[in-house]
Amino acid sequence: MGTSWKHWIMALLLGSAAALAGAQQPASAPAASMPVNPAVQSAQPLSNIVSENVFDLKKRDLAKEAKDQAARRTTQPGNNAPVWREVNSDQAHYASIPGLEAGVLIQRTGQKWRLFRNGVITVWGGWLVVLVPLLILGVFLWRGPIRLKEAPTGRVIERFTPTERYVHWTMAISFVTLGVSGIIMLWGKHFLLPVMGHQLFGWLTYVLKNLHNLLGPLFTVSIIVAFVIWVRDNLPRSGDLKWLLTLGGMFSSEHGAEVPSHRFNAGEKIWFWVGMVMLGLVLSVSGWMLDRIVPGVDYYRSTMQLGEIIHAIAAVGIICLSLVHIYVGTIGMEGAYRAMREGYVDETWAKEHHELWYDDVKAGKIPAQRSQPPAARPSEQPAKL
Ligand code: HEM
Repeated sequence: MGTSWKHWIMALLLGSAAALAGAQQPASAPAASMPVNPAVQSAQPLSNIVSENVFDLKKRDLAKEAKDQAARRTTQPGNNAPVWREVNSDQAHYASIPGLEAGVLIQRTGQKWRLFRNGVITVWGGWLVVLVPLLILGVFLWRGPIRLKEAPTGRVIERFTPTERYVHWTMAISFVTLGVSGIIMLWGKHFLLPVMGHQLFGWLTYVLKNLHNLLGPLFTVSIIVAFVIWVRDNLPRSGDLKWLLTLGGMFSSEHGAEVPSHRFNAGEKIWFWVGMVMLGLVLSVSGWMLDRIVPGVDYYRSTMQLGEIIHAIAAVGIICLSLVHIYVGTIGMEGAYRAMREGYVDETWAKEHHELWYDDVKAGKIPAQRSQPPAARPSEQPAKL
């Protein structure tokens, strides 16, 4: 009885028939001597990740095993369990094929990796990837988009030069393609396979996997260039802490009372350092390992398994953060998307969202136009300061 409620909670969380089946089993545990074969265990998150502590290993009675096996050979002719036990013990045997670990037919950690990927990561990561957009939708319905309080002046300031925009969109387009293909590779069999069927889904994942492998290095290069061009404006400055503590004034009773910030506010700086730099680099390094293009590395199966786990966890993290960034950069804030599409913001936007940056532009410390001026726009003139 003691464990059955846990099984029910697990079953509710996972929708797993296997977990429910576990709940209906009699309370008596299987005999301690019965070998547990991980390959036939239900894939319940965490429950199958067992310790490899040397003190946990049972002492083997080799004489008894030999006697039992001799007895089994008479009742079950053809039974050669000892051979398969050897095969399933991570030992390297002779193989004529060259290559790392070619002599290891079954690598047992592979089963643990599979259970972790297809249980812990898909279940908990899946919840996060579903809950974060719901949370964002909640904020959108509650607060609505952040609109300008004053009317636009018609005078504009250059916020991003064409180089900055090319780099940003290379990063964004490669990231979104990598994210969508990654999601389909990780969860597609649960939501696309039943709709598409095996043949189409097989082709789709084959194409997406190769696209994913090719675009990964482009994403890495784009984040390195973005780092170089934006690091200066993302260094911590006074006022960032206040912005963070009040979340930029988002929850202030005075609707839209924003804490003044320089070119990038503390929220953007967190996205820069945690999302783009930290998670982007972890994702890149593990991705290059999975692509097997890092020179001098011995690509054991365990190297790939560890690389995949790190890659998937970093991917879930950056996808969740990017959803917040994409929301604020599109429907969440009036005028933000235009800044990155066209490169310009209205003076009112600059004053309301990045007042200290606006003051610096007004004081002539930062030029209002940093790149070659665009061809005259019909509706707007470059800022006259
Ligand atoms: C479709 C996806 C995306 C959209 C719509 C989008 C939109 C935007 C917009 C509108 C801005 C300007 C914000 C401002 O003026 O302050 C911006 C800035 C920025 N974006 Fe994106 N973005 C996307 C994806 C990405 C991705 C994938 C990354 C990096 C992995 C990224 C990294 C940045 C950075 C670093 C900045 C400069 C602000 C800062 O340093 O924090 N963006 N984005």
